[in-house]
Amino acid sequence: MADENPVGLSLEQGIAILTLQREKQLNALNRELLLSLSQHLETLAALPELRVVVLQGAGRAFAAGADIGQMQNLSAVEATAFAKLGQQVFRQLELLPQPTLALIQGYALGGGLELAMACDIRMAAEGTRFGQPEVSLGVIPGFGGTQRLPRLVGRGNALRWLLSGELLEAQQALAIGLVTDVVAPAELLDRGRALAEKLAQLAPQALASVKRAVDLGSGAPLEQGLNLEAALFGLCFATVDQQEGMTAFLAKRKPVFSGK
Ligand code: CAA
Repeated sequence: MADENPVGLSLEQGIAILTLQREKQLNALNRELLLSLSQHLETLAALPELRVVVLQGAGRAFAAGADIGQMQNLSAVEATAFAKLGQQVFRQLELLPQPTLALIQGYALGGGLELAMACDIRMAAEGTRFGQPEVSLGVIPGFGGTQRLPRLVGRGNALRWLLSGELLEAQQALAIGLVTDVVAPAELLDRGRALAEKLAQLAPQALASVKRAVDLGSGAPLEQGLNLEAALFGLCFATVDQQEGMTAFLAKRKPVFSGK
């Protein structure tokens, strides 16, 4: 039976919370869930008041991977199309100008980890298990894992986990830089919200420019990346928020950013 709402969306004070909610299947990513996520991202991209996007999983897992039942009998052509769908939706998420924050608990495996890696910041609950176990199913990651994992944690660490398919504990994920924060499970949502609220107070165009500089610069030669940074730095000076930020600093008061 089709899930009615595989992804939930709530929006409050500029903070959107996307919740994967195929709880019984540990939020396994099927086609319908990916399409629902994509639709929500399209809605969010059109909201001028959006400041931060938080992604979480309901129940026992962030997400336990792409849906194995749905993949089992795919042809090679269909499997390629499924990989491309996941890759496109995750890239859509990654290219949002607003900061994105994954709150990870339980399991982030296969496509679930790939989804978390498409977010800007990863905060995890103690006890979470991470991994790219695809090789144990006779396949490889298809939603970006072979590309984003080495970019995040380096080739050696990436190959260690991609080739063995073994799972990492939260502290191991922290040690290799796969996540930046590990917190008590009961605190995950509050800590995530606090960070989201902080980000929501900052100058949106500056945050968007940081993302753009990192995204476009990370695959570029240093000279090109530095030129891009200088151009984006210059563009900040065409915003009201640059004046507000620097004026507030010099006046020893808190800035109030308008997003202009
Ligand atoms: N796809 C489909 N269903 C899944 C699933 C997945 N990736 N992961 C879990 N489920 C389902 C289980 O089949 C089970 O369903 P039923 O209750 O109908 O039997 C339900 O979720 C609960 O799972 P378990 O009973 O297995 O729970 P557990 O606590 O014993 O184990 C687990 C948890 C270790 C995460 C285990 O579920 C597991 O190993 N899941 C698969 C992990 C995996 O291999 N992920 C990679 C998928 S391939 C991929 O993602 C490719 C890609 O990059 C595109």
